[in-house]
Amino acid sequence: MTEVLPEYRAGTHAALERAEALSIMQRLMTHLQNKSTDMAPGQVKVPIEYYLDQQQWEREIKEIFYAIPLPAALSAELPKPGDYKAMRVVGKEVILVRRADGQMKAMLNVCRHRAMKLLPGGCGNSRRFTCGYHGWSYDTAGNLTGIPGEDTFGDVEKGDYSLVQLPVAERAGIIFMGLTPGMPFDVDAWLGDVLPKLEALELDKCVHFTTKTLPGPNWKVTVDGFLEGYHFASLHPNTVFLTNHSNRAVFDAFGPHLRNVFALKSLDEYHDRPTDEWDPAATLGLVYWLFPGMSIAGGLRERTVVSIMLPGDTWDTSMTWQTTLLRHSPQTAAEIEEAEKTAEWFYAAFRDEDYAAQTEVMNGLQSNPNGHMIIGRNEIAVQYTHDTIQRLMDGRPVHGER
Ligand SMILES: [Fe+2]
Repeated sequence: MTEVLPEYRAGTHAALERAEALSIMQRLMTHLQNKSTDMAPGQVKVPIEYYLDQQQWEREIKEIFYAIPLPAALSAELPKPGDYKAMRVVGKEVILVRRADGQMKAMLNVCRHRAMKLLPGGCGNSRRFTCGYHGWSYDTAGNLTGIPGEDTFGDVEKGDYSLVQLPVAERAGIIFMGLTPGMPFDVDAWLGDVLPKLEALELDKCVHFTTKTLPGPNWKVTVDGFLEGYHFASLHPNTVFLTNHSNRAVFDAFGPHLRNVFALKSLDEYHDRPTDEWDPAATLGLVYWLFPGMSIAGGLRERTVVSIMLPGDTWDTSMTWQTTLLRHSPQTAAEIEEAEKTAEWFYAAFRDEDYAAQTEVMNGLQSNPNGHMIIGRNEIAVQYTHDTIQRLMDGRPVHGER
């Protein structure tokens, strides 16, 4: 039985210009007729050492994750003043908080007295952050506002002991942060041509429904799994493949970022229909990928599933925050149940199929440390992203840099 899963209910906004959406539909219909997909000019061989080498991983953290704007949260997670998200990102304790004026702050989640972690991980709302160790407190801008027993502690120049500030910017409903204080941080230049595409998704107008965490293996192994639809038939026969064609995708790049659009099986019914009847929301599996670790799936629809994936503390770990956004606040028990079904469906498919497979890939890589992997012509976005990583590591311009 091919159940129409609830995530395919269309939204009402135009996440893609109609002309662009129709051209993507046409490209996919041609691929379906020809049994083809967008392809790279050749295959690429990747040494397995590139995944396993500890020094390589440490360089990636330093030269990529501590150097570029990282997607870290969604505006919809933190809509109100005082809303915060505390998270451990690439071995650093950080906090994102919305201030009274609506602006975001990003700071190290570390008390300046004894370096105690200030807030436990997760989201909440507070006007003040108080350290559980000795009770030092900070406002939402990170200013040190209270020192218990201050006359016995001795004089402290409070202005010198604010929480350590990190660069932060909010664009298109996405909160970006930098992990190095004072680093260059031009998020508009970094996003380039993908920014208007992201703005059209209107994630900033969405309602947060749920965020679930999912531990994963090495970040590059995890990324590889996000970027192709070649595995749909074999890895997801009872989930994704029920509604998506396997190995039928169109690929477009926007600097280091990219878009894969997968052909839904409903597209089969459109070959003979006039274009004014074509329905992109019902036929396109739209996925934007922001380098180095954010997938936005389903932007044409009522429900959008966003995965933020970042490396863990060690080379062989990563963490994913998977968020379900809704176009409208659910009003009835049936609507809540439908949204829960979508969120759980995506989470279970990722956990039990994608991430389970990637964990086995990690084990497999370690059995053959001197071999190589081969990335096919049909895995064009995987090739593209490995090229972006290599360009950043080599200090070469990334794609689209002028
Ligand atoms: Fe998958």
